[in-house]
Amino acid sequence: MSENILNEGYNKNSELFFKGVGENIVSKNSKYLDLSMCAGSILLGHNHKIFKKSIKKILKKNISNFAAPNIYARNFSKNIKKILPNTSSIIFCNSGTEAVTKSLRVARAISNKNKVALVTGGWHGSVDQLLFRTGKNLKPIKLSSGLPLESMKNVILIPYNNIEKTNQILTKHKKNISCIIIEPIQGSLPYKDIKNYLKFLEKFAKKNNIILIFDEMITGLRTDCSSVQNYYSIKPDIGVFGKSFGGGLPIGFITLSKKIKNKIDKMKIKVFFGGTFSGNPINMYVGNEVLKYIIVNKKKIFSKINNNAKFFTNSLNKFFLLKKLDLKIYRFKSMMRIVFTNHKLKDRYSRDFLERKKNKSIFSFKKYIKSQKIYLPSSGIIFFHIAIIENTLNF
Ligand SMILES: Cc1ncc(COP(=O)(O)O)c(C=O)c1O
Repeated sequence: MSENILNEGYNKNSELFFKGVGENIVSKNSKYLDLSMCAGSILLGHNHKIFKKSIKKILKKNISNFAAPNIYARNFSKNIKKILPNTSSIIFCNSGTEAVTKSLRVARAISNKNKVALVTGGWHGSVDQLLFRTGKNLKPIKLSSGLPLESMKNVILIPYNNIEKTNQILTKHKKNISCIIIEPIQGSLPYKDIKNYLKFLEKFAKKNNIILIFDEMITGLRTDCSSVQNYYSIKPDIGVFGKSFGGGLPIGFITLSKKIKNKIDKMKIKVFFGGTFSGNPINMYVGNEVLKYIIVNKKKIFSKINNNAKFFTNSLNKFFLLKKLDLKIYRFKSMMRIVFTNHKLKDRYSRDFLERKKNKSIFSFKKYIKSQKIYLPSSGIIFFHIAIIENTLNF
């Protein structure tokens, strides 16, 4: 029998899950400690009481999915603006991919230029213009067939956290670049010493009239109830967010700074942002209810998840050292990644290079983790959440 579903992860032997409760997800034969939490989009654990309560309220209040302007989107946007202060306007959509795609459209509309400076090592979703990994000498390598030819021509890779080289490349191409897009703290290697690089990009972009886009799909909300841009006091022109803002349902949105919003108004350009489910009442309602709960309880929530993540990272790294294992965990707040080398790394390119040599042991490690009933996502990125129970962290 062949598999009906072609999405990543499905094959005829896939283990299929059917429910999630607190820190676990459940398949027919097993219950796993979920270290993925819907790829980082659930901060409160599966089926948290506030999520369930808001779903019940939807039924009680007869909220339906009318594709029309609605009070729930307006209310949600007000609360989002409270925690993302560098926001003048918001554009709602349904996934991170859609938000990134539309943010690039805004950049092209304003700049009338086509080239995108893509910072290496990040992930921006299933976006044709950005589906590249970094090859030798910063050559883009396609991650998918079927990409338009122009995508390759229009992407310029700049190396994460390397100011000198980035400066060289940007200076060479600056006249043709519409925007720089960066995942400021990368899921692939949550590397903390990045503030100077981010500041450099902010300054360069401003000076040269290039639009700076921060992709904060993962770090949005997860960074102490705000964002990396707020944490490092940087003001990108555009932010893209999603994941945990959905409170457990799909979401993506774009934040425009005042400068960008004014430009759009002044230039009188029409940029298309529509979509059947964009800002739909059900997702907006749930997102807002969960967000309100998180804002009220933010101290408790973020100190708990950050401290648990810190404890987990430090204990495991000590253990790896003691046992002379060639492994290390990198962490930013409550996002972590196990890296299969303890060599000092500062970018994903070197991580990939060193990990490639160890495919066999990585495979055995993942198999072992699975046998311990721990669900480690294929990306290797671990997300903590409020439901994680301290006992599970004792190893
Ligand atoms: C940083 C970043 N940007 C964009 C995306 C794409 O978001 P989505 O999967 O919701 O389309 C992801 C998804 O993992 C992400 O981590």
